[in-house]
Amino acid sequence: MSRDLDELFDSNRRWAAATTARDPGFFTRLLAQQTPQYLWIGCSDSRVPANEILGLLPGDVFVHRNVANVVAHGDLNALSVMQFAVDGLKVRHVIVVGHYGCGGVRAALLDQRIGIVDNWLRNVQDVRNHHRTWLDSLAGEDERLQALCELNVLEQAYNVCQTTVVQDAWARGQQVVVHGWVYGLHNGLLQDLKMTVASLAEVGAAYGLALGAMKERYARRRRAADRAPGG
Ligand code: CO
Repeated sequence: MSRDLDELFDSNRRWAAATTARDPGFFTRLLAQQTPQYLWIGCSDSRVPANEILGLLPGDVFVHRNVANVVAHGDLNALSVMQFAVDGLKVRHVIVVGHYGCGGVRAALLDQRIGIVDNWLRNVQDVRNHHRTWLDSLAGEDERLQALCELNVLEQAYNVCQTTVVQDAWARGQQVVVHGWVYGLHNGLLQDLKMTVASLAEVGAAYGLALGAMKERYARRRRAADRAPGG
């Protein structure tokens, strides 16, 4: 690795040339305007890059990422991104994307001390504490981590629905749909947790349905494991 990171500039030049070769008007078009349909709120984890996972090009998705894909009510950064995306760019969909094996979620689950980020992960510990009884009922640490990754998506998607940005958009009749998804590092696939909300009236029911469906999945898996020979 060179001190000036020449390899990254080389790689960048190859990418720009290949992109122009494939579509000569690509950069000129994007220069004029961006019209993304989606706002992606995901984890900073290097293995979860929004555009690549969705197979989308520059210009297609507006992105906000932080450790453990948190949407905290007092976070001016996230709120500013959301307002720019919803009010300015008029994105149609706000998608909270968690991922299995999230180090931030694991640290929150296990009360690991890492550093400054512990304070940030308090938001995820709130989720853990809120669902503690159910989480404790699960079989082991792996299952609890998986479950908390999913719960965190539902709660953060719920938080998106509680922002003035989304509620004001709904109030003025603007179409914005909030989604909660989880990504599998092991297979590259996204899964819809069915926390899909298109209006203020739907928020509570959508959250309840998604949470119920999630708990049912874990209960089914537990029953299957109990029935398995030797299990
Ligand atoms: Co993560």
